Amino acid sequence: MTEQGKTAEERAASIVDAMTLDEQISLTKSMSGGSLLDLGIPLPSFIPEAMRQPKPDGALGTAGFVPAVDRVGFPALHLGDASLGVADIGYLRPGQESTALPATLSLAATFDPAMAREAGRLIGAEAFAKGINVMLAGGVNLARELRNGRNFEYLGEDPLLAGVLVGEQIAGIQDRHVASTIKHFTLNPQESGRFVYDARIGEAALRESDLLAFEIGIKRGKPASIMCAYNKVNGAYACENEFLMRDVLKGDWQYSGWVMSDWGAVHSLKPSIDAGLDQQSPQDEDYFAGLPAAVKAGEIAPARVRDMALRIVRSMALVGALDHRAAPGGVIDREANSAKAQAMAEAGMVLLKNNGILPLASSAKSIAVIGRHADKGVPIGGGSSQVIPWGGVYRDAPGANPLSALLAPSYGLSSPLKALQAELPGTAISFDDGSDVARAAEAAKKADLVVIYAVKPEMEGIDHADFSLPYGQDAMIDAVASANRKTVVVLQTGNPVAMPWLGKVGAVLEAWFSGQRGGEAMAAILNGKSAPQGRLPISFPAGAEQLTQKAVVGYDPAKQRPLGIGVKYDPFPIDYVEGSDIGYRWFERTEAKPLFPFGYGLTYTRFDYGGLEFRGGKALSVKARITNSGDREGIEVAQLYVAPPGRTHRLAGWAKVSLKPGESREVTIEADPWLLLSYDEAGKNWGRPRGEYRFFVGKSAGEPMLTGSAVLTAATEDRKR
Ligand code: BGC
Repeated sequence: MTEQGKTAEERAASIVDAMTLDEQISLTKSMSGGSLLDLGIPLPSFIPEAMRQPKPDGALGTAGFVPAVDRVGFPALHLGDASLGVADIGYLRPGQESTALPATLSLAATFDPAMAREAGRLIGAEAFAKGINVMLAGGVNLARELRNGRNFEYLGEDPLLAGVLVGEQIAGIQDRHVASTIKHFTLNPQESGRFVYDARIGEAALRESDLLAFEIGIKRGKPASIMCAYNKVNGAYACENEFLMRDVLKGDWQYSGWVMSDWGAVHSLKPSIDAGLDQQSPQDEDYFAGLPAAVKAGEIAPARVRDMALRIVRSMALVGALDHRAAPGGVIDREANSAKAQAMAEAGMVLLKNNGILPLASSAKSIAVIGRHADKGVPIGGGSSQVIPWGGVYRDAPGANPLSALLAPSYGLSSPLKALQAELPGTAISFDDGSDVARAAEAAKKADLVVIYAVKPEMEGIDHADFSLPYGQDAMIDAVASANRKTVVVLQTGNPVAMPWLGKVGAVLEAWFSGQRGGEAMAAILNGKSAPQGRLPISFPAGAEQLTQKAVVGYDPAKQRPLGIGVKYDPFPIDYVEGSDIGYRWFERTEAKPLFPFGYGLTYTRFDYGGLEFRGGKALSVKARITNSGDREGIEVAQLYVAPPGRTHRLAGWAKVSLKPGESREVTIEADPWLLLSYDEAGKNWGRPRGEYRFFVGKSAGEPMLTGSAVLTAATEDRKR
C-alpha cells in the first residue's frame, strides 16, 4: 500500500473508516496465539480454557493474536512477550530460541540509556524476524516489594531511572517497526494475590512515584500500547479504573495509543470501555463478546468503537508496522546479538564487596568453583517473559510431571565453570555443586581461592517469604568461607538477598540473571578483563524490619504457583504507607541504614570528587570534577540527589564517565525539572515552592560526596498538554 503524503493519523483514519463496524470490533479483542494442547502433555484442570483452544489459523504460538483485516490491508497482530528478549515460556513455538538478554533489573543497573535503547533494538529486530509485531515489553512497576517474583523484569525502585530506561527500551523496539507496550498500569508490585488485591495509596504519592515512571517512560518512548494491570487501585480494577485511564492517561497525559488488558484482567464490558480500555486480551470470561450487542442497544457509541480501533491502527502506523511487515524466517545474527547480550550483562553487574581478592590474581594456582548448576548454566527468569536462549535450557525439575517440568527454574546453557576455565587456562579449577556442605568446605580448603556461584531463581506468580538464599546456600557459603577466607560469592538473583555470611567472604558480585553469555560475562568481570560498572537500581535492606511490610502482604506459601495459574485468594487491601518514598527515600525518612544503598557499586579503581559548582534559579545545574585516583581504568556513575523543601532526596540526574588512571573530568548534571516538582492534590497541578533545595552529588543514595543547597524559584507546570 503506498499512502504517500498522508500522516499516520490520516492514514489510520482512512483504514479504520473503510472497515465495517464488525471489523472495527474485531480489533478490540485478542485471542491466545498459542495452545497448550500443542505440547501434547496432560493438562491439569486449573489451566484456563483460553489456553486449551487449538491454535488459531495464522497464529504463531505467541501470547496473543488478532486476525488481519485483509480487505483494508491491516495486518494480523502477533503479540509476544516481553522485556528480556523474545520469550517462549514452554516451547509453544518449537525451535524458537532467541537471544536471552540479562534481566531488566540488570539493565537498570547499567544507568545507561543508550544501552537500554540498544537492548530494545535487539529485541525489536529479533521479534520482527520471527513475525511478531507487538512486543509485550516495557515492564516498569516500581520495586515497592523486594520479595516480588517479577522484580527481575522491572527496572528497580526509582521513577526517573526506571522511566528513562524503559522509555529508551521501548523506543528501541519501535525503531525496528515493532510496537511495544509499557506495563503493568499500575501498582502491581507483588505477585501474591495479584488478581484480587486492592493497592491503596494517596493521589499525590501515586502521581509522584509509579505514575511518574509511566509518565516519563511514555513521554520518552511513545509506546504504541499500555497494558492495564490485574489488581485494583484504590478500589477499582486497573482495567476499569476511570482515574487511571480516563483522567490521567488519556486526560492529563493525552495518551493516543491503545490500552490492552493483562491476560485475564477484564471484569466487565461497559465500565471497562467507558473507563478507557480499548482491547481485551485472552481470557475465559469473554466480556467483549457482548460488544456488538451493546453497540446495537445504544449502550456503547459506535464512535467509541471507532476510537478503540483507531488507537490500534494509528499506533501500528506510527511505528511503521504497516509498511514494514514482520514475518517469520527473518535472519538473526546470533553471534553478534549474543556478544551484545554479554556486554550488557557485564555492564549491569554490581560489585558489592571486595577486600582486594578481585580481580582474580593470576597467582592463584587452584580455584574451587562451587554452586548449584554452575557447571551447566545461569538462571533465567521464569514466567511469561522467559526466553529460551540459543542452545536451549536445563530445567531443574527432577521427577516432576511434564507441565511442572516445563515451568521449573531454567538455566541458560552458558556454564560459569567452563567460562572461568577458558578465562584462566593456567589455573586448576575444580567443581562441586555445593549440595553437601561438608564436602563443599573440604573442596574449599584444598584450593587457593573459591568462587561460589549462588542462585535464587525467580518466576512470575511466585514471591519470596524472606531474603535468604534457597537450597541451604547461606549455610554452605558460611561453611566454605570459614574453610577458606579467600571466597568470592557471585549472586545470581532477581532481588536483594540477606548475606548473613558477608563479613566472612572476600568479595561479592551481584550478577543478576545474566542471560545468553552470562557465564562468560561473570568470568570477564572476575578476572578483570571487564571493569565492574553496575550500580544498584534497588536498595538491599539489612533486614525485613526496615521495610514497611515485614512480609509480602497476603503471602501464602501454599499459593506460590508459576504465573499464579489456578490460585484463589480472597480479596485483600495493601496500603502503601511509604507513599512516594520508595526504597532509598524510605531509608532516609526512617533514618535506617540499608545493607547496600540504591546507586551503590564498587569498581576496581578509586574516584575522587571535587570542584563543586552549581546554578539555581529556574533550573538546577550542578558541576563536579571526578578524578580516577586509582591505577586501573574504571567507570563512575556520579548521581545527583535533590531534596525539595521538607521532602526526602530524589535522584534527579546522573553522569556516567569512563576514566583512565589519573584522568579527571568535569561533569555537568542538570536536575530533571520533573523531579523538582511535587503534585498538589488540591490545586490539581504540579508545582514547586521558592526555597532552598538541598542536594548532593554522590556515589550512591547513601554516599554523598559533595553537598550544597541552591535557591530555586517557584514554578508550576500543567501536565495537561
Ligand atoms: C503477564 C503479562 C504478560 C501476559 C501475556 C501475564 O501473565 O502478567 O506481563 O504480557 O501474561 O503473556
